[in-house]
Amino acid sequence: MTDLRDKYIQAIADAGDENVLEALRVQALGKKGEISLQMRELGRMTPEERQTAGPALNALKDEINSALAARKESLGDAALNDRLRSEWLDVTLPARGRRQGSIHPISQVTEEVTAIFADMGFAVAEGPQVDTDWYNFDALNIPGHHPARAEMDTFYMHRAPGDNRPPHVLRTHTSPVQIRHMEKHGAPCRIIAPGRVYRADYDQTHTPMFNQVEGLAIDKDISMANLKWVLEEFFAAFFEVDGIKTRFRASHFPFTEPSAEVDIQCSWVDGQLKIGEGDGWLEVLGSGMVHPHVLRSAGVDPSQWQGFAFGMGIDRIAMLKYGIPDLRAFFDSDLRWLRHYGFASLDVPTLHGGLSR
Ligand code: DAH
Repeated sequence: MTDLRDKYIQAIADAGDENVLEALRVQALGKKGEISLQMRELGRMTPEERQTAGPALNALKDEINSALAARKESLGDAALNDRLRSEWLDVTLPARGRRQGSIHPISQVTEEVTAIFADMGFAVAEGPQVDTDWYNFDALNIPGHHPARAEMDTFYMHRAPGDNRPPHVLRTHTSPVQIRHMEKHGAPCRIIAPGRVYRADYDQTHTPMFNQVEGLAIDKDISMANLKWVLEEFFAAFFEVDGIKTRFRASHFPFTEPSAEVDIQCSWVDGQLKIGEGDGWLEVLGSGMVHPHVLRSAGVDPSQWQGFAFGMGIDRIAMLKYGIPDLRAFFDSDLRWLRHYGFASLDVPTLHGGLSR
């Protein structure tokens, strides 16, 4: 019995983790453990033998149990000490510089445009960026053979052979939102639709994804005069120049009749562009009176309703307002650029609080 004792006490002292301890416990005190078996032998002993062997076995059992418990506790302490040693933190280190995100110029300008048009009673509408070619073209009076389809460098979505759903495109402009909005809400309406558009084009002033804002106002008696007033109000507020001059040039878009491209007054002095002064002109948008075909496509009766529409590049007016020379930098995610051209996140643009301060 002394051998047994020495064997287990030593093994418990040497156990490196709790699994080994548990195995030792089973080996000694489990149902078929060495000590348990010996206790079963007690029944076959003479009463005299039992009188000494019984208490001795019980004492051995207690001793092993408390050795196991003690070892278990010290293993736990060691594990804790290891963790404390490896997970320490030097709270006296100097703090890292505070980093702050900023608002991207596109988001900022979208908010500014929205605030100005909201003040004139325009709601914001949205449409999908992947749309059918019917919404992007046909409904807007651009039939299959029309050269405008080719000019737009459209991205077509892949179609498996045998798939006879209508062809889908990445929308090339925000104009399809006109159709979707009128289809759902009818006339009268007054909306802007800012969002991403896509064309396969890439240079200093073109990126395959860019941002436009569409405008649409439909009622019984809306005319080009309303269009001119709304746009002049917009430019004065956006560029923060009172009485900014605009120039309407006759143009052609399939979805408007008549159509006009709109320029704003500017000057170039010493290579510096100034908006709202001088006698230069900068083209900023396309517009016109909504074509009857467009109204009909959206289920609006052109003998009852009429109105204007316009489409403007958000990135372009952002570049003009904030003097950003290269469009491609908008989408490079260069932190230095974002810190330089970004806006403070708590300065939400409003007409009363200031658009861009
Ligand atoms: N959708 C045109 C484009 O992307 C812009 C445009 C022109 C929109 C005239 C209009 C409009 O609503 O009336 O080039």
